[in-house]
Amino acid sequence: MSIVVTGADGYVGWPTALRIADRADQRVLCVDNLARRGWVEEVGGVSATPVTSVDERIGAAEEALGLSNLSFVEGDLTERSFVDELLTVHEPEAIVHAAAQPSAPYSQINGERANYTQHNNMQATRNLAFSLHEHDLDETHLIETTTTGVYGAPEFPIPEGGAIMESDGERDEVPFPAMAGSWYHLTKSHDAANLRLAHAQFGLPISDVRTAIVYGAGTAETRADERLATRLDFDYYFGVVANRFCAQAVAGYPMTVYGRGEQRKPFVALEDAVEGLARLALGDPDERPGEHTVYNQVTRAISIVEIAETIAEVAGEYDLDVAVEHFENPREEDETHEMEIANEKYDSLIGGQSVEFAAGVRDTLDAMTARSEVVTAHEDRFLPGVLEDGGQAE
Ligand SMILES: NC(=O)c1ccc[n+]([C@@H]2O[C@H](COP(=O)([O-])OP(=O)(O)OC[C@H]3O[C@@H](n4cnc5c(N)ncnc54)[C@H](O)[C@@H]3O)[C@@H](O)[C@H]2O)c1
Repeated sequence: MSIVVTGADGYVGWPTALRIADRADQRVLCVDNLARRGWVEEVGGVSATPVTSVDERIGAAEEALGLSNLSFVEGDLTERSFVDELLTVHEPEAIVHAAAQPSAPYSQINGERANYTQHNNMQATRNLAFSLHEHDLDETHLIETTTTGVYGAPEFPIPEGGAIMESDGERDEVPFPAMAGSWYHLTKSHDAANLRLAHAQFGLPISDVRTAIVYGAGTAETRADERLATRLDFDYYFGVVANRFCAQAVAGYPMTVYGRGEQRKPFVALEDAVEGLARLALGDPDERPGEHTVYNQVTRAISIVEIAETIAEVAGEYDLDVAVEHFENPREEDETHEMEIANEKYDSLIGGQSVEFAAGVRDTLDAMTARSEVVTAHEDRFLPGVLEDGGQAE
């Protein structure tokens, strides 16, 4: 028996595979087509942490952490024959599906990238669901990192899952509407709907983990050896807002907040994201809250201005003197959106948040200041104004 982690060369997938392998008796198969390495190169970006080759990573995991149960399989999940072979040979008990093209700005570049993103993400998920079903692997727990972006930014508190709809005096709980705001985010709305159908039609146990914006540069396992570092991107397309602000601080530029910047976004530390995924993959099926469960993988909502101010404060510990500047907002958005989001199920899964945002910032600045020459050499990849749309995307 085994556990499969897809997207295991990526930012979230790699530390998740390490955590699971560290706790599991089973073999842990890391699956990836290495596409992320190519996308970042394509947009002129680079990881702030050195990303070693797959072979080096697997070797270092054995040397530094004693993990002899970790293997890597290179392949493309959009190819059904690859997925069939993977699943029939290894018959996994659980799959953590973290493979996707995860960048909204990349998916928005043009129709070709939007098509690529939608085909890639949705085809991969459908292939996994159909392959499990058609090979009688109906008990395999399929866990996918979707995104809190599927909820959009509604004017009411976001539930952990469905929504109550009222029509003609009758009320019922229905799947949350696809309110995603980018071609990428919409792939996850469609995945969420497809996962629900796969559960209804095939009986697959599903955990739809709606991942918030992830912060931090590593986990206990990735810090054990520098060859185990997970990637840390900071360019406009692949760096989340906190990483780009940290890069601005390291390169000596003020942090630029559009308008009031009081709109809050949902966040989770990498450590807390990895812990939840590992617990789901290794958990007792009888202890799951349901055979189809939505988790909001979020520990806190934080405003853009709070992000900038926290980074400015922590940057002081590194003798980086960073100002926070407000600019006129080029976008039409509610600059005070509250983003209230329920997370009781996820919170109880991980037993409460372990890494505060300021600690995640410290972790990120540690990594970026250690390679500040790499960050500054790529400042044209993250500075607002240099790139279209200024760079405040998630
Ligand atoms: N990082 C975040 O802030 C965040 C927020 C919300 C949701 N998520 C979701 O979490 C998951 C992991 O995100 P991440 O930040 O680690 O992204 P990532 O790009 O670092 O990792 C995804 C990995 O999947 C691989 N991949 C993509 N398509 C593939 C395919 N067809 N076959 C095989 N491998 C493929 C990529 O090469 C990459 O290594 C994604 O599903 C993403 O949508 C991430």
